[in-house]
Amino acid sequence: MSVIHLERRIIIISTLFVLSLFGLATLAISMFHVGLPTCLTDIKPFLKGEVITHSPDHFEVHYVSKMWSFDPEEIVVPAGATVDFYVSARDVTHGIILLGTNLNLMAVPGVVNYARVKFDQPRNYKLLCHEFCGTGHERMAATLRVVDRATFDARQNAPKPPQQTDAMTKHLEAKECLTCHSLDGSESIGPTLKGILGRATKIKGGGNVIADEAYLRESIVKPEVKIVDGFDDVMPKPELTDEELKQILEYLKTLK
Ligand code: CUA
Repeated sequence: MSVIHLERRIIIISTLFVLSLFGLATLAISMFHVGLPTCLTDIKPFLKGEVITHSPDHFEVHYVSKMWSFDPEEIVVPAGATVDFYVSARDVTHGIILLGTNLNLMAVPGVVNYARVKFDQPRNYKLLCHEFCGTGHERMAATLRVVDRATFDARQNAPKPPQQTDAMTKHLEAKECLTCHSLDGSESIGPTLKGILGRATKIKGGGNVIADEAYLRESIVKPEVKIVDGFDDVMPKPELTDEELKQILEYLKTLK
């Protein structure tokens, strides 16, 4: 009999607890305008990072998480700014946490997650990936700097450095080559493309090759034939016309 009593008490207390949590959440949303992190199903997932200025103190940021960095890597906003963060992922599931704020979202391929943060004071924030996403997980970081209004305005009005409009880089990006191959010498899912022509390359399962044009052509057209030692056979066959393949091979030769 006493057990039933105890059970009833536990049920009543836990029900009250759940109801009061709902009550507090409703109160926080309606009275204090606390924005809850949300998954937005009506926005098309984006593959390019972006900062959009809606007004002098309202910004929209599109963060793309990818192995193993965030795009954009650095963002500067003025103190007092309200920032709407939209988060997507390009390859696998990542996490995104802006230390010192309530921005803490999953970054899932094919999905856009959303949260809003207001930044009152100038301060530097660190953005990290909090979901184990592979061998480069711990390197995955970005920064967000909140500066005072005068500094921000001076920055906005400063002459912009000439834009890097490297058509070939854009092309490689569009073909998703740069998702796995870097241009700056850093290791990623695949070998870096920097200095690839003529590189002495060890092949998985034995053998060495010099990465000449024929090898590069084969590795693009039939990536599964020779896998570089230390990497996995994960490269999809890219869809390229003969002309595009020729252009890419010519470009690879220039990446000294
Ligand atoms: Cu991305 Cu961990």
